[in-house]
Formats: sequence, C-alpha cells, structure tokens
Amino acid sequence: MDQVVRRVPASRFPRMLGDWRAGPGPLVRRLADALEKAVRDGRLPVGVQLPAERLLADELGLARGTVAASYQILRAGQLIVTRTGSGSTVCLPPRLHDRLSPWASDRGEEGRDGAPLDLTVAEPAAPLAELLRAVREATDALPATLLGEAPGGARRSALHTGVAALYSAHGPATHDGHLLLTSGADAALSLLCAAYLKPGSRVVLDSPTYPGALALFREAGARTISQPLTPTGWDIPALDRTLTASRPALTYLIADFHNPTGLLMDEEGRTELRRRLSRHDTLVVFDETMRDLDLREDSVPPSRVTGRAGDRNIVYVGSLSKSLWPGLRVGWIRAHPDIIRRLTALPLAAALAPSPFDRLVAARLLEHRESVVARRRGRLRQQRDYVAARLAALRWCRFQVPQGGLSLWLELLDADARQLADQAASLGLALTPGFRFSPDGTLDRYLRLPFTLPPEALGTAVDRLTEAHAALRNTT
Ligand SMILES: Cc1ncc(COP(=O)(O)O)c(C=O)c1O
Repeated sequence: MDQVVRRVPASRFPRMLGDWRAGPGPLVRRLADALEKAVRDGRLPVGVQLPAERLLADELGLARGTVAASYQILRAGQLIVTRTGSGSTVCLPPRLHDRLSPWASDRGEEGRDGAPLDLTVAEPAAPLAELLRAVREATDALPATLLGEAPGGARRSALHTGVAALYSAHGPATHDGHLLLTSGADAALSLLCAAYLKPGSRVVLDSPTYPGALALFREAGARTISQPLTPTGWDIPALDRTLTASRPALTYLIADFHNPTGLLMDEEGRTELRRRLSRHDTLVVFDETMRDLDLREDSVPPSRVTGRAGDRNIVYVGSLSKSLWPGLRVGWIRAHPDIIRRLTALPLAAALAPSPFDRLVAARLLEHRESVVARRRGRLRQQRDYVAARLAALRWCRFQVPQGGLSLWLELLDADARQLADQAASLGLALTPGFRFSPDGTLDRYLRLPFTLPPEALGTAVDRLTEAHAALRNTT
C-alpha cells in the first residue's frame, strides 16, 4: 500500500503549540516538551512530517539552531525519526505505547502531572506495530471480502480457523461448528447467562473471582455460591461437595492464571476435576481469558479439563483481550455444536458478535500471537518480580508470587482493605479492594495489585501504599 506523506504546514504551529514559551527551563527544552505534548494529546498526529527546521524557526521567531536542538531531543526520545531527504516524521516511542491502557492514553501513567496512579485496571498495552500492520492488511483485504471473493468471507472467516487452531493444538479438537465468535469474553458470558440462567438459578464460582462475571451473574438474577480458593489453589473434593449440595445451573471457573490471584490449577487437580465433573449435571464454564499469561519459565500449556466423549456440559470462553489487545473486541465460546446452535439462535448473539472489520484485523493479529505473547510475558515477569521484591520487605502483608496473570493478591495482616484503599486514593494511588472480587462481600483483608505498569510506576505505587499504611496505623 502506498504510504501517503502528510505534512503539517509550519504556519499552523504557533496556534497549535499555544503558550509554549511560558514556564521554566531553556527554550530548547520547552519547545521539545510542547511538541511532545502536542503529539500525546493528538494535535500532532503520528505519521505526519514536521516542517523543516528553518521554516518552523521563522514561524516561531527562533534561531534555526533552537529548533534543530529541540528536534534532536525528540529524536533521542524516539518521538521523531529523521531520514535524509524525507525530513522528520512523528512516531510513538515504545515508552508511550507499551503502557497500561488499550487506547495508550495517559490513564495511570506514572501518576504524572498530579494524576492518580491507577492500579484498578489490569490490562496490557496494545502491541502497536503489529496492530497497525494488521489494520493495514485488513483494509487491503476489505474489497475482496465485501465482494464475497475472499475465501469464506467474514462469516466463516480466517478468524474461526485461527481460533480453532488454538484449541486443536492442545485439545479438544475443534472445528467451526464448535465456535461462536463474540465481542469479547464478557459478551460470551452474557450469552451463556441469557441461555442458561433465570432468576433464582444457582451459580457456583471461585472466591475470589473476576468481578465482571460476578456482575453478569447477579444481573441475570442468579444466586451465587462461592467456593473459596485455598492459598495454593482449588480444593477439588470441596468443590465436588458444593456441586452435590447446590446442584447449580452453571459453574464458573478460571483455572488458568486466575484473576485476581494468578493461581493455576495443577495437573492432578485437573484430572481429579475431570473425573468428578462427570457426576454433575451443571454447565461448567472455564474462562480462559488469562490462559496466555503464563509466567512460568519453559512451561507447557496447562491441559484442558474435558468431558467424556459426547459430553455437552463443558464450555470454554476465550478472548484476545489479554493475549493481544482489549481494544479489539474479540472473544469466543468453544462448546459442543448443540450448545453453539442454541446460543447462535439467541437474539442477543448478533448484537454481541464482533464487527466484520474487527474480525479481519483479529485474524491478522492472531498470526503474531506467539511473538506478542512472548514479549508480553517477558515484561510481565520482570514487573511481577520487581513488585514482589519490593513488597517482600513489608511486614504487614503477604502474598504468593503468582505463576501467571496480571496481578498480585495481597493479604493485609493488620488493616482493612477498604480503609487502606481509601487512604491510598488520598495519596494518589487507586486500588481495588478485595471485597469486589468476592461473591459474598467478604475478603476485606485483601487487595489486588496489578503489575501491568513499568517498574518505575510500580515503585511509586509501593511507596504510596507504604505511606498509606503508615498513615492508617497512626490514625487507628
Ligand atoms: C477472567 C476474565 N474474564 C473475562 C474478562 C473480560 O474480557 P473481555 O475484554 O474479552 O471481555 C476479563 C477481563 O479482565 C477477565 O479477567
């Protein structure tokens, strides 16, 4: 595809940059900061070419050397690239796009400019280079898809093939008829709620658990029955007893790098669960959204808990949100074809399907899944280890270093999590207290601490948390 060179005329800069001369520091630095700010808040789009140094200097009433030195600062910060003959082009450096938010906004970034440091979301940043490439390739593929000339079109798409391959690699064997694509895992859970729950239905689920699922089950009018996790994982015989006693319509489990604890069900537990589940008449939903966030070294992926041949009671829910990008609303349900047919017939199914264009992008992005995930794991490991080392020095909390996922589950030994979270908020640190992850409003001595931010920001978070704890101790 032809790359169109976009230029912003130098005459636009005085207005665009506004009152950039105000403030302390050398002029060169102030101009560089003003240009960076214009990029970060979208006034100066990524991909445009900056004016030649002399032209901008004339417009701003500066010496050419000043503009040249400012451009040099931006170049060193990887905010522009300069190629001989084609000038300086604005780009996003990794430090800006490998951040917390799916939109790479300023949300939560290092608590800059007095903004609170937001650790209430546990989301990986977009893999920008791969994403842009996938969007371009999807755009190129659009005409053939619209004309119905692409194999399978958007309906039975490359995305079905890509998702089916994720299952077939580690079982169970999967074809199109086993899959229903949705606009994310929450959408998949909404469909399952619509099909299998009515007011008063019982749902058994881990405690703690993913609050989004909890909210959907409550919204459906279900009665949630919590099955406490132990510090090391699942007590399968206890789960079995709960299933016998409560006979739930639906059982919701996150066995792979559980949100919020990061726990992984061990292989013996999986074998035991497989054996015991066959005795129960409940739809078992395994939420595999976190499955790719395996932070163990050189590990093989966990096996899947499957039913007996022909069993219809096991459903897997998956998503590209944590593996690739939550801004791309793509998830799925993998289940027996009878279940897929039942879900597809729901009026909600069309409303909760990913858009055809998102599918085209997702199919292409999926081709880069292994390298994106490998990079992400490396970074998450480093961040997890950093925050774990910092927290290990604190006497008033304890935790297990998680084998995967995006967060640490912190047990407070002498404080109430809600009070500590309130105190932390007053010091510019937003955290989610444990009761939000509890089906019955307990877990008030736990906090979830995501490690999705870079180490510097995590360091600031631990400093603020320590300060908040000290302040709380002094007042109680
Ligand atoms: C366990 C779990 N399931 C589902 C979701 C929602 O995923 P999606 O963005 O695909 O709707 C999340 C998001 O945090 C999650 O942690």
